[in-house]
Amino acid sequence: MPRLTPAQQQVQVDFLQQLRDGRLDKPVAESSGLPNFAYTCADFYALEQDTVFRNHWVFAGFVHCLKKTGDMIPVEVAAQPIVLVMAEDGQIRAFHNVCSHRGAQLVTEPGTSKKFVCPNHSWSYNLEGKLIARPHFHGSEKHDVNRAGCHRADLSPIRCITWHDWVFVNISGDADSFERCIRPIEVRLDGYDFSDLHFFESLEFDLQANWKLAVENFIDPYHVFSCHPWLNDFVGMDQRQAPEFDDKVLFCGYQFQKTDPARAGALPWFPNLPKQKQNRGDWFVMFPNFAFEIFPDQVDLFIANPQGPQKTQETISLYFIGEGAKAEKYAEARALVIKNWNDLNHEDIGIIERMQAGRRSDGFDGGVLSPYWDPVQKHFAAMMTRAISS
Ligand code: FES
Ligand SMILES: [Fe+2]
Repeated sequence: MPRLTPAQQQVQVDFLQQLRDGRLDKPVAESSGLPNFAYTCADFYALEQDTVFRNHWVFAGFVHCLKKTGDMIPVEVAAQPIVLVMAEDGQIRAFHNVCSHRGAQLVTEPGTSKKFVCPNHSWSYNLEGKLIARPHFHGSEKHDVNRAGCHRADLSPIRCITWHDWVFVNISGDADSFERCIRPIEVRLDGYDFSDLHFFESLEFDLQANWKLAVENFIDPYHVFSCHPWLNDFVGMDQRQAPEFDDKVLFCGYQFQKTDPARAGALPWFPNLPKQKQNRGDWFVMFPNFAFEIFPDQVDLFIANPQGPQKTQETISLYFIGEGAKAEKYAEARALVIKNWNDLNHEDIGIIERMQAGRRSDGFDGGVLSPYWDPVQKHFAAMMTRAISS
């Protein structure tokens, strides 16, 4: 049964019409990015939520927030309320965050509980999502004891997996296996020992721009000499590799020759790091919006969380190596990493919001791409197109 509403089907048709110039079938130099309305239109945004974000593995939360049995956090993916919970069996599970009775959202704040209890009529569910009580269900003091029939009212589970500190969900249940999606990243992480990676803190930024512009900017080293000249002093354009892609993964990187206090500086490094990784930085995106960069002394997660067609919340989460990295003696080194991110990201936000403004112009509808730097941008546009069309 088709899931899309008639309005969404119409947006899908309009979108494919806009691409009828074959922009994504041409060589990069003759191609263009996505049309403007993919970045501005509320109907397109709704379609995108219902296809791209519903049908892929999407970052949903942090393992470090779900340490104890009963820890639960409400999140939103594909504009749907979801709850992540640490169940009795030590597994992190995801459920649709909605009561089976009259549809009240079950969990509205992070917390810890032995069970889910709906505040509306106190139906309750265990941490595996099974219905366990329906008070007064058959009338006053006539509580439900007919467990056999309860399966209809259990919570709806969502496909859920953890990878390092990160929880991913796939709402439709139809995505390729997570292992297959993440594999192009895993092979490139060979030599990095993640076992002693520690979350330090998250930085939050609000953007008046579409989430895709933030992801596209993240994997674009071409803008560095112009937007971040101070960063270009650390690694020049001649050392920056053009981004590449492998299925749902986009990646780029560099070998750096100088030292930088905010990268591979005074903080502890990954143990036993192979020599070629000791002066290396790499960026990864797993479609649609899970991204991180890695250096010898840190992993920086970057999530562009859509909040509306022209509104995005960015979370940048910093991870350092070893509990010792939290020591006072590294306070200055950590502060430098944070300052670096704040400076860098404010410069990026300025340029991303300008690109959003440009999407209101009749003088632009996807642009002209660089055959050297922008094949990855075309690939991202093609992935979007495929995800919207399927
Ligand atoms: S809506 Fe949840 S118990 Fe009635
Ligand atoms: Fe940038």
